[in-house]
Amino acid sequence: MRTAVVTGASSGLGREFVKQLSEEGKLDEIWVIARRREKLEELASSVKTPLRIFGASLDDEGLYGLLSVLMEREKPDIRLLINNAGRGTMTTLDEETTEDAVSMIGLNCQAPVKMMKLCLPYMKEGAGIINVASVAGLLPLPDLAVYGATKAFLLSLSQAVNEEMKERNIHVMALCPYWIKDTEFIGKAGAEGRISEKGILNAEETVKKALEDLRHGETVSLPGKMAKLTALGTRFAPLGLVWKIRKWMKV
Ligand SMILES: NC(=O)c1ccc[n+]([C@@H]2O[C@H](COP(=O)([O-])OP(=O)(O)OC[C@H]3O[C@@H](n4cnc5c(N)ncnc54)[C@H](OP(=O)(O)O)[C@@H]3O)[C@@H](O)[C@H]2O)c1
Repeated sequence: MRTAVVTGASSGLGREFVKQLSEEGKLDEIWVIARRREKLEELASSVKTPLRIFGASLDDEGLYGLLSVLMEREKPDIRLLINNAGRGTMTTLDEETTEDAVSMIGLNCQAPVKMMKLCLPYMKEGAGIINVASVAGLLPLPDLAVYGATKAFLLSLSQAVNEEMKERNIHVMALCPYWIKDTEFIGKAGAEGRISEKGILNAEETVKKALEDLRHGETVSLPGKMAKLTALGTRFAPLGLVWKIRKWMKV
């Protein structure tokens, strides 16, 4: 069975990935993971490709046990893994609770590693992995320090594993979008009203660009001009200057 696995498919980018993959019509099944089962069921009734629903938290070790047993039994041909589930909190480390920081690291860093370890044995030549990082992973970010650090981890991991997987012809790409308006992320992160609308993206264009970039063999996908400018800025300008510009532009 040609299968894709998408984490965080109950809203935002994850749901959009499932919709666009289903429209492409190249898969027999998509395994979708998120805590809100009802949202996954809603999605299943609106797309053509059959979805296998896992209504569970990526914090739950039982989920990985279940996936491991199913994969061992069914030996799916995993064409694509999308490590998309993630969250952020817009705050200083001083203000952030230890519990919030640690659980964010678990979801944004540990879960993608566990999912890659689970899926890679079932991925053949030509398969792909998209790790949804962020522009926040391109530079240390005051007020998003822990979130940015988790995404820098994911970016670094993706680039290194991509190199390792060249022998197996499996492509790993980090997706680094700038703020996206039509997902639940900004509200949950407490960033509403604190960021400018300049260059803000939507989920549909972000996912379209990510799937295109994966097909073209990009290692890092930078949708939108703000992502490209940030990547350029962090390469050529001193960090202090980039931070000043960011503060001034409210980005
Ligand atoms: N929106 C932006 O501005 C932006 C910018 C750059 C990068 N990103 C990244 O894009 C990715 C997708 O975010 P989004 O913008 O689409 O936000 P979103 O609408 O909040 O989606 C987050 C998804 O993650 C799932 N999730 C959260 N905690 C989970 C857990 N413990 N176990 C399983 N699933 C969990 C949520 O499902 P349940 O709540 O149902 O579990 C939801 O489906 C994230 O990695 C985020 O860091 C977002």
